[in-house]
Amino acid sequence: MVQIQGKAAITKNQAFVHFLTKCWRWCCKMALVQPRLCSYFEPLIRLFNPGYRAGLISAQLLSVSQQQDYLHLLLKPGKKFRAFVPGQHLQLSVELDGALVQRTFSISSPLQQFLAQGTLQLTLKIQPHAGLTRQLAARAGENLFCYVSQAQGDFVLDQQRSALIVVAGSGITPVHAMLCSLSRLTQPVRLIYSYRGADNLLFASSWPELKARFPLLQIELWDTSSGPRFSAAALAAAFAALQQQKAAQAALQAEPCILYVCGPLTFSQQWQQQAKTLGILQVRQESFGCLNAADGEAVTVTARQHGRLVQLQSQGNLLQSLEQAGLSPRYGCRRGICMQCLCIKTAGQVRNELTGQISDTGAGLVQLCISTALTKLELQLDAVSTTAQDNTSCTT
Ligand code: FES
Repeated sequence: MVQIQGKAAITKNQAFVHFLTKCWRWCCKMALVQPRLCSYFEPLIRLFNPGYRAGLISAQLLSVSQQQDYLHLLLKPGKKFRAFVPGQHLQLSVELDGALVQRTFSISSPLQQFLAQGTLQLTLKIQPHAGLTRQLAARAGENLFCYVSQAQGDFVLDQQRSALIVVAGSGITPVHAMLCSLSRLTQPVRLIYSYRGADNLLFASSWPELKARFPLLQIELWDTSSGPRFSAAALAAAFAALQQQKAAQAALQAEPCILYVCGPLTFSQQWQQQAKTLGILQVRQESFGCLNAADGEAVTVTARQHGRLVQLQSQGNLLQSLEQAGLSPRYGCRRGICMQCLCIKTAGQVRNELTGQISDTGAGLVQLCISTALTKLELQLDAVSTTAQDNTSCTT
């Protein structure tokens, strides 16, 4: 006879059955959480190939160079990586201290470079509060395991239409890839690039080269450290100049132009509004930045539990907000100790109220009971598997 949990006395046979039942439940749980078969063999394969991650495309990190507030990463993705359309982005995952940290970045190098050398460049703004870019800057010389997703996104240049492109800061990265990949330009394109200080001017050598290659390309560089910020009046003037340029090229089709906007979220929203007043009907926008809620402001949270999708406005503690919305996330201590409330965040930023740490924008684990949403957030509340805990960085 043995005791289980100090309560009922049971036979050895019953204890053995109890053990087998627990094993079976664990197996079922594992079978339900792994997205693909090779994930089950990942720990074994990693014994021989430490860089292996099931379902991810490994990428060799060839170099990391810093330019003021930015990092340039040169990567050589594995053979599974299909090419990209200039302007698209991908998800970069880096293994840092045993956990995968993910973020989304636009490819900044031309397609020709990938086709000729198999390499591509990512240009990242170093975020003082976000883990990945800060750690990449600090560990530049180290041999880090990196992975990339396939490229995706529809922020690509329509070469049949004239274009007004307004970008700020790292928003120039997809536009640099687009323009440098062009072999010819048949429609007028006007680029306005706003940056802060000469040291933060990205791809400085490319702009004179591109101007010389394409007579229809006009480039305005706005250094906001020594001049005014880009304004609504300046946008209207740039649009008028583009229209004039189109009128002068009488042979060109009179198709309406497209406004491309890329930069911090507030920047993109501002110019999208402005486009309406100018009568620009088509706007393409790309933004990976975050619109941080002011303290006490409600943030939209989308949570999935048992196949049910719920959208709610969260203000303050995430666990409480989810419960008030009728969801039943797991919890234990409600004080950040037991980790029972750990769940998967697929997008958005949270603040850990105990440490003040702010998460990355990409996928990660979140302790609901001590976290507050800072941006639009997407959560998966179903049980976090052991594998998920191993594979995803805890951002709280
Ligand atoms: S409930 Fe215990 S850590 Fe959140």
